[in-house]
Amino acid sequence: MLILAIESSCDETAAAVVRDGREILSSVISSQVELHRPFGGVVPEIASRDHLAKIDHIVIDALQKAGVGLDDVEAVAVTYGPGLVGSLLVGVCYAKALAFGRKIPLIGVNHIEGHFYSVVFDNPPIEYPALALIVSGGHTNLFHVPEEGKYKIVSRTRDDAAGEAFDKAAKMMGLGYPGGPAIEKLAESGDPNTVKFTMPKISDGRPDFSFSGLKTALSKYLKEKNGGKTQTDEFRADVAASFQYAVVEQLAATVARASKEYPAKTLIVAGGVACNLALRDSMRRVADKWGIPVYFPSKHLSTDNAAMIAAAAYPRFLMGMYAGSDLTADITIRLQNVEEDPAISKGRVRYRI
Ligand code: KG4
Ligand code: ZN
Repeated sequence: MLILAIESSCDETAAAVVRDGREILSSVISSQVELHRPFGGVVPEIASRDHLAKIDHIVIDALQKAGVGLDDVEAVAVTYGPGLVGSLLVGVCYAKALAFGRKIPLIGVNHIEGHFYSVVFDNPPIEYPALALIVSGGHTNLFHVPEEGKYKIVSRTRDDAAGEAFDKAAKMMGLGYPGGPAIEKLAESGDPNTVKFTMPKISDGRPDFSFSGLKTALSKYLKEKNGGKTQTDEFRADVAASFQYAVVEQLAATVARASKEYPAKTLIVAGGVACNLALRDSMRRVADKWGIPVYFPSKHLSTDNAAMIAAAAYPRFLMGMYAGSDLTADITIRLQNVEEDPAISKGRVRYRI
């Protein structure tokens, strides 16, 4: 059973053909990173225009690389949120036209659930209950997943996403966009103990994430040290390593804390930031201590792609959960269908900088 999937929620135009939700026949990703680099971040208007210019070619390329035609495809899957509304609309409209024109099912996929399913290609089957850290440029959430398709948010970010923090820190240090890979590379030769960034304290005691204070602390530190600009490569490497360490430590500490409350058989770490090797090492240590396996997507499936959207769509296809002609981009959808605790996210975040 072949699904043609389309992903255009941010700055990657992607299409993939996947058999039975597990076997990738093709996965084509066109990144807009060069277009956005001069601005130091994604410019929504530029992103949606570029999706529009490329989507047709990317879909045709995905079909050709898979060696199949549209007649062989049994369903079309598409990301419909969350993301940039203009970008999402390009994928959604294209997928709708294709599915209804061919009279085959259309399946709407939540982008975050797509990241969750990115681990199915290169790992043994997920054993439930699972705990899943989805950590990207737009999202930082820890989910308890008691069974397939059920999600409860355990921790969320109160401000910036972890990837966003990497991107902003890199911009401050003049490292360019996207920031995560640039900081990781620089951090390789740095000492993570140089700058002691403190962990945020959330007054309601919820195990949420917060990264904006870290960004402010970095900015303050760089200003004190003359913007970091006239500093040596060694200084910059030490700052990058310390910043990366602070982000990774916060993520790892929160997952370790959740492991006590939410027994799980599998730990999943996915999303663009899951490319980061320091994060992978740290999460392996958490999982080892816990005595459960940790699954990561392979590197090319960590950042946005359409193969993960096909994988997430497959169980919905089997259950007949098809979208109607009213499917549209929805930037507000959340991945949560299990009740969360009351009084969530009411407290303030405090930092010592
Ligand atoms: O999942 P993704 O492609 O897009 C979103 O859904 O947001 O994630 C992109 C994010 C960017 O913020 C980028 O800086 C971050 O993932 N990222 C990394 C690394 N590679 C990508 N962050 C830290 N270390 C990396 N190696
Ligand atoms: Zn993503």
